[in-house]
Amino acid sequence: AETGYELWMRYVPVQNQPLLNSYRLQINSIAVNTGSPTLRIVKNELISGLTGLLGKKIDTTGKTALNGILSAETYNPAGVSGKAGLKSLLEQTGEEGFVIATKTVNNKKHIIITGNTDIAVLYGTFHFLRLIQTQQNISSLQIISTPKMKLRMLNHWDNLNRTVERGYSGSSIWNWHTLPGYIDPRYVDYARANASIGINGTVLTNVNANATFLTPPYLQKVKALADAFRPYGIKVYLTARFSAPIEIGKLKTADPLDPQVQQWWNDKISEIYQVIPDFGGFVVKANSEGQPGPQDYKRTHADGANMLASAIAPHKGIIIWRAFVYSNENPVDRHKQAYDDFVPLDGKFNSNVMVQVKNGAIDFMPREPFHPLFGAMPKTPLMMEFQVTQEYLGQGTTLAFLAPLFKETLESDTYSKGKGSTVAKVIDGSVDQHALNGMAGVSNIGSDINWTGHPLSQANWYALGRLAWDHSLSSEKIAEEWLRMSFSNNAAFLSTMIPLMCNSRETVVRYMNPIGLHHIMGTSHHYGPAPWVSNLNRPEWNPVYYHKADSLGIGFDRTSKGSNALGQYAPEVRKLWEDINTCEEKNLLWFHHVPWTFKMKSGRNVWEELCYNYYTGAEKVKQMQASWKKMQPFVDPQRFDQITMLFNVQYEEAIWWRNACLLYFQTFSKMPIPSNYEKPDRS
Ligand code: GCU
Repeated sequence: AETGYELWMRYVPVQNQPLLNSYRLQINSIAVNTGSPTLRIVKNELISGLTGLLGKKIDTTGKTALNGILSAETYNPAGVSGKAGLKSLLEQTGEEGFVIATKTVNNKKHIIITGNTDIAVLYGTFHFLRLIQTQQNISSLQIISTPKMKLRMLNHWDNLNRTVERGYSGSSIWNWHTLPGYIDPRYVDYARANASIGINGTVLTNVNANATFLTPPYLQKVKALADAFRPYGIKVYLTARFSAPIEIGKLKTADPLDPQVQQWWNDKISEIYQVIPDFGGFVVKANSEGQPGPQDYKRTHADGANMLASAIAPHKGIIIWRAFVYSNENPVDRHKQAYDDFVPLDGKFNSNVMVQVKNGAIDFMPREPFHPLFGAMPKTPLMMEFQVTQEYLGQGTTLAFLAPLFKETLESDTYSKGKGSTVAKVIDGSVDQHALNGMAGVSNIGSDINWTGHPLSQANWYALGRLAWDHSLSSEKIAEEWLRMSFSNNAAFLSTMIPLMCNSRETVVRYMNPIGLHHIMGTSHHYGPAPWVSNLNRPEWNPVYYHKADSLGIGFDRTSKGSNALGQYAPEVRKLWEDINTCEEKNLLWFHHVPWTFKMKSGRNVWEELCYNYYTGAEKVKQMQASWKKMQPFVDPQRFDQITMLFNVQYEEAIWWRNACLLYFQTFSKMPIPSNYEKPDRS
């Protein structure tokens, strides 16, 4: 059988014998009351997890003559959580946070996993199992963990015909044909995996989906999924096509101010809530890339969002309105459009509307400066949209561990309320006091047995969930947890693989889009290099629009002398990036058109720096190949071979990127490739 299906929940026996013995002594019996579907899941997870990890049959009576009772319960004044005096700690943990504490109750040592709700106990259970999976000391626990964000979501770009837009791991896992009657066990495994990392919402359908999903037969299918996910704390959301009243409602218009349109949505939403009482709400892509929207009727994004928000408010649902908009009416700089459209609407959205903003202003590039909307709409809760699937990062054949990309954005300082107003603090609601807050990732999940195609891309799904729960976690910590659980706790394995994972995205940046280059991928598929393309009918789709290479230099001037996209950032940020000497070199060509001869900090000129990056990028892939080879003793043969093959493909692609980009840009720079970079590594 193919490995990888179990994701990070492999529950293989603890290899370290002294540690195993100590765990066995500390867990003699488990006590879980199974009064709800969620608590039954807790119990099953503890049994299967501990049976696997400890290699022994787990006593579930909760009664033992020995010390060492593991007790998982929703807070109960009369239960062990009450007797252990955990009430005051639970005053800080809200609905989803949990406590794991070692306490003596009735003269016996207990490990107590508790929270204010059943779901909180489930989160605590996965956390506890992770402690053992990653071989932590559990002898004296006092853990309090609460999510930093309220909505922690996956966005599936899955279509009705089971294709997945920008999906590289097979087809959609939703089988609309056999739903609602047939519940594929995979749906439950999906929910379990998400619950294990704290994800609590899923948008089932593509942002570009048509309105079929809103018809009664499909709502029954959605209900079946919602029922399967509910015990795992996951709410279901759908995308709403703005023109649905025309397409499935037979109205003549979808104008948000038209009473008939409003009535249609009121009725549709009531119908949905009759079928799915805890439906989460809608995600809407409107007036973007050809999708219909309120501007078709000369209304604003706020008019559109508020119409839906009013209809869904009585049911406590929310509207997540996407800020990913651009059109050819703004040919100067696509970078500026979302800000121009949305900032004037700040304060105009109903309280149950969130605006979902991609991490950068262009489109999920290997590196982007943070989106200028973060910090610029203080009256509106902004939801982060990251991309977990690697549309512009080599897709299914490339290792790009994305935690460093996510962290780079989250830690960027918007200065919106002075120093320290990081993007993370904008989206977690702390800068502007928004109770509604969250983070979403465009999923990389598909029907492949291992879920994500590239076995190492599972780490990106994992990283999204972990960072949505706690954005202060470091990339290294996330990589370490994931590697320990998915592969091995061996120290030699970890000391190679943690840095290998954490540097992998920077390597991709080097050989695809170094020093601020962006959007030079192949037309529409976005796979591989095509910086030369200039003939597409919309200017902002052409790579030449973004790199602007000419005989004098390269890069997009977004300073006040150019498009002035920099004018959309806070003065502190603008100042830093506006000056070619203080702008971080990693963003240089994003903000400046730089002469070929411009001297970089390295002493190389821009052309040489490009050559250096493209060459060292490819070289680093080769180093990853070599390091991976040494991991053979620690990895099962199947995943070892899969990853070996994928690194081989990635190396070919790095050479392709390097040669294509340098040969093309050389036609402008007219300078030679420094001879020390010309290694014959195409052998
Ligand atoms: C990108 C992507 C599209 C997607 C769009 C979006 O442009 O290539 O496939 O639909 O983003 O986020 O709406």
